[in-house]
Amino acid sequence: MNTNITFSMIKPDAVRNNYIGKILTQMTEAGFMIKAMKLTELTVSQARAFYEVHKERPFYNDLVEFMTSGPVVALLLEKDNAIEDFRTLIGSTDPSKADKGTIREKYAESIQNNAVHGSDSDENAVIESDFFFSRLERV
Ligand code: CMP
Repeated sequence: MNTNITFSMIKPDAVRNNYIGKILTQMTEAGFMIKAMKLTELTVSQARAFYEVHKERPFYNDLVEFMTSGPVVALLLEKDNAIEDFRTLIGSTDPSKADKGTIREKYAESIQNNAVHGSDSDENAVIESDFFFSRLERV
């Protein structure tokens, strides 16, 4: 399955630091089309559910606390080869290891407060975008 879509979130650190505009510009200039977008705040149960795959990890509770610490921007993005190209655009999970010029290298605070999320597979892009967006909210 190659759906040409990915799901992204601009996380609470980047929203607090006023980077929404700069990050959206970098995404769209890289060729990603915005197919759905919303500014919202996750509840604790929503954040726990979204990151359920990480529930056994030592950072899970802190991650949930961080992800509910302020608004996020949820995004459904479209481009050929979306998953791989988006992960290249955002850089490594740990911003200190991210390539120069990537979104995380420029805007992230730490491995946890890492500015943006990007889906790791076509399957998860569908699951994650269905989590945030109804059919009516997509173009
Ligand atoms: P994300 O790509 O959204 O997927 C899982 C998130 O968990 C990740 O970005 C980080 O915000 C967080 N994360 C991953 N690894 C660590 C870690 N070693 N320590 C703290 N947080 C982490």
